[in-house]
Amino acid sequence: MQDIDIADLKRISELIYQKYGYDFRNYAMSSFKRRVLRIMDLKRLTVDALIRKLNDSPEFIHEFLDELTVNVTEMFRDPSFWRIMREEIIPAILLNHKQFKIWHAGCSSGEEVLSMAILLKEMGIHQDVQIYATDLDTTILERAKSGTYSIKNMELNEKNYIRFQGAGSLKDYYREENGQAVFNKDLLNNVTFRKHDLVMGEVFNKFDLVLCRNVMIYFNQALQNEVLKKFHESLFKYGYLAIGSKESLIWCDYANRFIVVNNEEKIYKKIKD
Ligand SMILES: C[S@@+](CC[C@H](N)C(=O)[O-])C[C@H]1O[C@@H](n2cnc3c(N)ncnc32)[C@H](O)[C@@H]1O
Repeated sequence: MQDIDIADLKRISELIYQKYGYDFRNYAMSSFKRRVLRIMDLKRLTVDALIRKLNDSPEFIHEFLDELTVNVTEMFRDPSFWRIMREEIIPAILLNHKQFKIWHAGCSSGEEVLSMAILLKEMGIHQDVQIYATDLDTTILERAKSGTYSIKNMELNEKNYIRFQGAGSLKDYYREENGQAVFNKDLLNNVTFRKHDLVMGEVFNKFDLVLCRNVMIYFNQALQNEVLKKFHESLFKYGYLAIGSKESLIWCDYANRFIVVNNEEKIYKKIKD
């Protein structure tokens, strides 16, 4: 496998920023490096050839971004998190709002969004919730919109759903077609999917609950600070923010505007404007 030095990684992130307006300059260097090396390997490109291709073929950027971003996800990922959502967080929101809004930031191929939709259906409040699901990567967003996944992935999803202690069977929500699990369309009828970049994008709405799980882990500390500021602005007072189980807000400048609601599941509540 080839290697790449920091100066070249900086050249690449600067080029993508200047030419295409995507800002990876504050992504954690180690994972950025791993992904760039992987792309060079997959496409059999040297550093110089990769830089040339990024410069000369604008259409390559989508493929590049799709490979650069880590899209790994699953339905009901960390089932205990989803149990806390159902048993504590959503009921707490419902105490004050019959209708409310959720933002899935960095939704990848949509498994997290479908998990939420199923949870809300099982609580009988699906129609009262408006969901926004965003990602930087337009290729993965198309997959999310389709609500269709390879049947091979369903074993893990089914296991997670059982551990979540869902009301029925995950099979109640999809049909099998040509090796694909096609989820019922009505699950996504209250979901707006759109491209949104957490680094370059504006705050676009106010929410009662924001999920941004396993995304900020790829950002350096400075960028985590900036993005947390955006989440703070995007939340109503007393709104909730959920991040990934391996992530933490504790070192961020805005941390004192939140309280920890559940430390294991990394759920926070905005308490100060
Ligand atoms: C590992 S997936 C997490 C998916 C899901 N939230 C979960 O926990 O299973 C990370 C997602 O973050 C997205 N992402 C990375 N940088 C982003 C940015 N600057 N703005 C929006 N999404 C971003 C990637 O495209 C990817 O789909």
